Amino acid sequence: MAHLWSGRFAGDPDKDLFDFGSSFAFDRRLFQDDVTGSLAWAEGLERAGVLSAADAASIRTALEQILESGQDPRFYDSAAAASDEDVHSFVERELIARVGDAGRRLHTGRSRNEQVALDLRLYLKRRVPLLQAALVRLVEALLDRAESAGAAMMPSYTHLRRAQPILVSHFFLAHVAALRRDHRRLASVLDEIDELPLGSGAIAGTSYEIDVTFLAARLGFSRIVANSVDATGERDFVASFLHAAALSMVHLSRICEDLILFTSEEFGFLELADAAATGSSLMPQKKNPDPLELVRGKSGRVIGRLAGWLTTMKGLPIGYSKDLQEDKEALFDAEDTLAGSLAAVASVVRGLDIRGTVSGRAASGLLLATDVAD
Ligand code: ARG
Repeated sequence: MAHLWSGRFAGDPDKDLFDFGSSFAFDRRLFQDDVTGSLAWAEGLERAGVLSAADAASIRTALEQILESGQDPRFYDSAAAASDEDVHSFVERELIARVGDAGRRLHTGRSRNEQVALDLRLYLKRRVPLLQAALVRLVEALLDRAESAGAAMMPSYTHLRRAQPILVSHFFLAHVAALRRDHRRLASVLDEIDELPLGSGAIAGTSYEIDVTFLAARLGFSRIVANSVDATGERDFVASFLHAAALSMVHLSRICEDLILFTSEEFGFLELADAAATGSSLMPQKKNPDPLELVRGKSGRVIGRLAGWLTTMKGLPIGYSKDLQEDKEALFDAEDTLAGSLAAVASVVRGLDIRGTVSGRAASGLLLATDVAD
């Protein structure tokens, strides 16, 4: 079995250990970004005079075909793909299968260490705006409920004891305020990842005359990393993303907790749509807020991803170590969980019925004591 690096080895790696180290099952998610990076690298090599115009052209055509084939999920499950260590090896093998030695030359001056750093940045550049759009949809749902609440009142709570009367809209807008900060936090993740790591090589840079300023512009980066040793071995931006995701989940969890309380029989300020609740198999009177409970529960999982990732990074010597491969499952799981949770909460919020008479009654009487005294 030939691997990217098998040249100096006499025998094949142990099958179980190879499978243990393989990341293709999950990093195939970076496929599009890996091809995007490779297309740019081929141009960089051509401009540096390392690749002939003919080689560069055939590599470009083949990579475009590979990108096209990647639309079909079966592409990743071929017999040959079963022995690919990661998405970078997968794309390179497919390329060599199409253009032979020219495909091998694409790896000139390039290491998977910088490739994976680039792919992750490109991936987040594509995906973070989708999470921001999902946040906006939830904010819109909350604004819609705030508007339809009109002049309805409810008690505000401190220590979960009745405090002062507020508009129901004031309550909805409190959660909007937190989500707006989440949106900005994701924008600052986008700013952090806006640096091209190519040119870093495996750790110490490259001796080929690669025009990184051109590559940065070509790939949509406004800056270039400051240090190759750092750039190939740092994933602070993954931690920043996980922190942004974890804090968003904390905010969603608090929305869920409020809605679980306020839709309960004890409060009754809000009513869940039937479509947003589940029944009990035993107790016919129950209307359970399962989606809200699940989001509250899943917040623990994203917080765990952040704690886990910080722990993975903390003992690493400077430069790339294989430990860093753990970044991807943490990132993808946090992303999927946040995306699913944002959509679920937005859907529940859209169906909320506001019981202004009940909430108004709870907000009358002694709650005005402060205003009367003032
Ligand atoms: N799959 C690897 C990762 O995710 C790619 C980088 C491999 N580099 C290496 N020197 N083995 O980190």
